[in-house]
Amino acid sequence: MKIAVIGAGYVGLVTGTCFAEIGNDVICVDNDPKKLAVLKKGEVPIYEPGLDELIKKNVRAKRLQFSSSIKTALKGADALFICVNTPPKKDGGADLSYVENVAQEIAENLSDYCLIVEKSTVPVQTGERVYDTIKKNHKKGCPFDVASNPEFLREGSAVQDFLKPDRIVIGVSSARAEKILRKIYAPLKAKMVVTDIKSAELIKHASNSFLATKISFINNVARVCDAVGADIEQVAKGMGLDPRIGPSFLSAGIGFGGFCFPKDLAAFLHMANSVGQDFSLLQSVLDINDTQKDFYLQRIEKVLWNLRGKTLGVLGLAFKGNTDDMRFAPSIEIIKHLQKEGVKIQAYDPAAMVRAKEVLKGITYTTNPYDVCKKADALLILTDWDDFKDLNWEKIKKLLIQPIIFDGRNLYDPKKMKKLGFDYYSIGRAT
Ligand code: NAD
Ligand code: UGA
Repeated sequence: MKIAVIGAGYVGLVTGTCFAEIGNDVICVDNDPKKLAVLKKGEVPIYEPGLDELIKKNVRAKRLQFSSSIKTALKGADALFICVNTPPKKDGGADLSYVENVAQEIAENLSDYCLIVEKSTVPVQTGERVYDTIKKNHKKGCPFDVASNPEFLREGSAVQDFLKPDRIVIGVSSARAEKILRKIYAPLKAKMVVTDIKSAELIKHASNSFLATKISFINNVARVCDAVGADIEQVAKGMGLDPRIGPSFLSAGIGFGGFCFPKDLAAFLHMANSVGQDFSLLQSVLDINDTQKDFYLQRIEKVLWNLRGKTLGVLGLAFKGNTDDMRFAPSIEIIKHLQKEGVKIQAYDPAAMVRAKEVLKGITYTTNPYDVCKKADALLILTDWDDFKDLNWEKIKKLLIQPIIFDGRNLYDPKKMKKLGFDYYSIGRAT
């Protein structure tokens, strides 16, 4: 199949590369000249394990190309996947102007049947808007279909998630569209869920919102554990063994971040309100997520007393481990708050420092995890990188002014840390 992918970001690049890997002819289009130049040089603009080799392999096999032109990519394409960004607007709604721009360009350049697929995360009824925009501005009048195919990959394991999905959701309004999407995904041998377009769009927002709800729920329980001296890990284990609850997404921490959960919850809430439906549960999920950072900061202030003039070492800046993505990373608000209070920050992240430097100024960035501890009053863990799981604690103890750790990701065993001589504070676990 010939496939066009518009937007070569975290989703588009993985989607395009994986479609090429399963035998399709793919052109990935991006209108960011810097990103395109990097891709054309054979480099990868994002950190995503396994993606580098897969891109190189498929470019060499001439199954994967990069372009700035939607017109070129559309020529002879059986399907076009829209993978552009859908950032949040001030009122929480999704900014769909990038999607609209692509739809306009498609309309101007479509000269033969093509299936237009929304893969970007969009509010329900966007498919109709995409269809109407193309229909209205379409020059040649050839037939086309619009479908929804939401993406469920996670950053950090995106390639694996894409190639071995739990399910593939396709929302279609014609047999032709269904046939094309089934053919494209056939090599993955995955469970297919075929729905109407609106239901597919809703599956995506509802899934992300539900996962985020689990996280806020467990974070709220963690606060109760903290207050009464119980252990959130034991509570989560005991809950998660019930198959109706399940063990995943019950890790307490400093709250969820990333370009997905915060904006998708806000967009879903906005959308529900716009059709007259109260969904205050989602507002509570967002509120708990916001105050979880305060909960963490209050502990730091309580233990260290005055913050002004103190130095804190920070391990981890990305919104989660295994990615360089800083969008809506909890580290940003936490660090900015501490800086406002007069704290000097020394930070290290295995992959996100280049991106962090764009949003977090006035920080001493170090080249290894130990240098952040030098003459620091305490150490903060803000991202769950595997690299941080096995550190030289004797060395860290000597480097810190005081052996104090505030672990925002519950990475270590409290008993072990105590035995090593640390004052160790984590989320919802007795120290
Ligand atoms: P991103 O910002 O990394 O990538 C979007 C890309 O689209 C950018 O490179 C941008 O330059 C390009 N673009 C914008 N307008 C364009 C145009 N008119 N022509 C060509 N290129 C254009 O965003 P992302 O993280 O890949 O997310 C994309 C969408 O997928 C969002 O709706 C997001 O919610 C959804 N999603 C993201 C993830 C994830 O893990 N990041 C997972 C599932 C779904
Ligand atoms: C999430 C979903 O997991 C994907 O299925 C979805 O495709 C994607 O959003 C999207 O729509 O863009 P992602 O944001 O990459 O993927 O990362 P997650 O692993 O879901 O983590 C999100 C945030 O929740 C991170 O900040 C993470 O640290 C936090 N988290 C996750 C917790 O605090 N506790 C947990 O138990 C799990």
